[in-house]
Amino acid sequence: MQIIHTATELRQILNNQDNIAFVPTMGNLHAGHIRLVEIAKQHAKCVVVSIFVNPLQFGANEDLASYPRTLADDCEKLELAGAHILFAPSVEEIYPDFDGVNLNQTMTITPPLIANELCGASRPGHFTGVATVVMKLFNMVMPQVAIFGQKDFQQLFIIKQLVKQFNLPIQVIGVDTVREVNGLAMSSRNGYLSIEERNQASQLHETLQSIVTQIQNSSQLNHPIDFHQLKKIAISALENKGWTVNYVAIKSSVTLLDATVDDKHLVALAAAKLGNTRLIDNIEFLRTPD
Ligand code: PAF
Repeated sequence: MQIIHTATELRQILNNQDNIAFVPTMGNLHAGHIRLVEIAKQHAKCVVVSIFVNPLQFGANEDLASYPRTLADDCEKLELAGAHILFAPSVEEIYPDFDGVNLNQTMTITPPLIANELCGASRPGHFTGVATVVMKLFNMVMPQVAIFGQKDFQQLFIIKQLVKQFNLPIQVIGVDTVREVNGLAMSSRNGYLSIEERNQASQLHETLQSIVTQIQNSSQLNHPIDFHQLKKIAISALENKGWTVNYVAIKSSVTLLDATVDDKHLVALAAAKLGNTRLIDNIEFLRTPD
């Protein structure tokens, strides 16, 4: 695996390759990321992984400074997984005119309004940061295929919009969330959890699973179901167990708008804090399973 730090070098090495699958990450790689690399290998001869902790997608009170940076470990894992190129640029390489504080000189991408809901409601500017860095990385790597985890469902949705609306010739592939044995979605932020919290954290997935089961049961029995009530019960259940809930939502998985009785393709999503750690999860499902 070659390790590259600048866009110029990356372009020289890729030299107009037309068989590139790209896996953008912020490092601190876990089994979920390795799964993305495996899927990438199924789609192209050359797999490029990027590691870049993107300051633009962190809010002022978020964990940019403490976000785990584990480049040496990550390199070993990528080597084993069979990635071909690791692109690990500096902040200056990605944002030549960003002083780390002031965005005035930095050109950014304004994502669609959906970016202000769900995670965007409590993380203003987050998806502007994601869309901007992903566009920059796409411009540097110029892949044919790009692979993202479904755990960040809203992010994946916005990136698909980015590709469509900016006419990028890139196929975006979403990959199923990899989970711990207890159901907890793998995330770099799980490293912040104590052993006790890690056991408890499976409650987020269990709560979503319970929403899915209730919707599917009501659909099979032809019983009406009140989504609002379902969300309220889920929020209280989590709060009673000590979580601080950001949101629990039931959306159309096609539009990410509030689910209606006519929607067949749904997604239940949640974001909540356990102690100081904010976790997100979702389950995409059919109202009436086949
Ligand atoms: O999902 C992530 O790790 C990041 O949001 C991404 C897509 C690499 C952009 O910084």
